[in-house]
Amino acid sequence: MRSVAVLPGDGIGPEVVDASVQVLDRLGVALDLRFGDIGWEFWRNEGTPVPARTWDLIAATDTCLVGAVTSKPPREAGQELAEHLQSDGHSYVSPVVQLRQRLGLFANVRPITDIRHGSFDFVVIRENTEGLYAGFDTYGLDDGLWEVVQGHPNAAGSGQQGTSASIRLQTTAGLDQLFRFGLEYARRHGHQRLTVADKPNVLRGSGTHLRERLEQISAEYPEIETEILNVDAVALWMVRRPERFAVIVAENMFGDILSDLGAGVMGGLGLAASGNIGAQGSYFEPVHGSAPPLVGTGRANPMAILLSLELMLSHLGLDVPARELRRAVVEVATAGRTVTYDLGGSATTREVAAAVAEALRVAGMPAGVADE
Ligand code: NAI
Ligand code: MG
Repeated sequence: MRSVAVLPGDGIGPEVVDASVQVLDRLGVALDLRFGDIGWEFWRNEGTPVPARTWDLIAATDTCLVGAVTSKPPREAGQELAEHLQSDGHSYVSPVVQLRQRLGLFANVRPITDIRHGSFDFVVIRENTEGLYAGFDTYGLDDGLWEVVQGHPNAAGSGQQGTSASIRLQTTAGLDQLFRFGLEYARRHGHQRLTVADKPNVLRGSGTHLRERLEQISAEYPEIETEILNVDAVALWMVRRPERFAVIVAENMFGDILSDLGAGVMGGLGLAASGNIGAQGSYFEPVHGSAPPLVGTGRANPMAILLSLELMLSHLGLDVPARELRRAVVEVATAGRTVTYDLGGSATTREVAAAVAEALRVAGMPAGVADE
């Protein structure tokens, strides 16, 4: 039986996780759900938002489902640390960043679907480990970096300490892995086109590297057409003609921006799902955060975590229940009777979960799996 580390986290995280468990029970998929600790409370009381026992749980399970976590800037994080931990040199690193780094989760998959009208259905795959967010970002340059930038007309007037810079890191290994993932995704989901969003006429060196690797890797997938488009044009077309896209891949920062744009195009955070996938693991979570103002009000839309659960089931090879879950969510969203405030309704988190559970055609599922 497949096992899942379920990490509810903070704020509305536990509320939407409850909703997903409610639906999963009804779906009757045999999964070993093992609950674990993540989030702000563990940072404050134990000095880490991901305790060692949670890493053990993650290592012992096939994948993770995360609710949501609260993150705060370093100074506030330090101030909220429990008294007895204050002097121990703990530094806060967001748990989702820790998961991505420790598990090498290089692909962030964000489906962008018109769930209620079916007019578009594409996916943004963001590279998660390199690009402009690789971490080579400094304010006040060392001699080596200064050497590189000092010829710029603005740099001379500002000086070495009045200059900051980021490096967009791209590696052959990272690009190949990303393109192969995107092309495999396209193949598995029957898409005929892969769009790479970049800025080749401005980022000339790294853009050429990217193009060379895309040409090399895409030769292994002759049935899939590939294109490199300017990222700004992709942003425009995502709004104006979202139906033209199938699979979009982009480096870290471009992908970060495009995937949030995508959440807006598809109607907000209440529907936006994600998967983070790598060679040594994966985790799935709604795109939204812990939404402090919604906690306890029952207003959180559980559809984002339910669609993340669909991605997770599909990743585990459980395609039949994944499709059935999706169908039920689409049915409830389209009917529009039992939806939360963000979709124009007044139903609660639990009511939406119950409606989705009700809409599932569980009779078609293999008999007996729910009892295992
Ligand atoms: P947020 O996603 O929590 O909320 C943004 C807006 O969307 C709010 O108006 C909220 O009410 C609404 N919203 C969020 N989820 C919703 C849902 N399921 N149904 C209906 N409406 C929903 O982002 P915010 O406020 O910027 O961050 C709050 C906390 O969450 C912060 O501590 C932040 O660091 C953390 N965060 C965590 C993420 C994660 O777990 N990966 C992602 C984004 C933020
Ligand atoms: Mg973002």
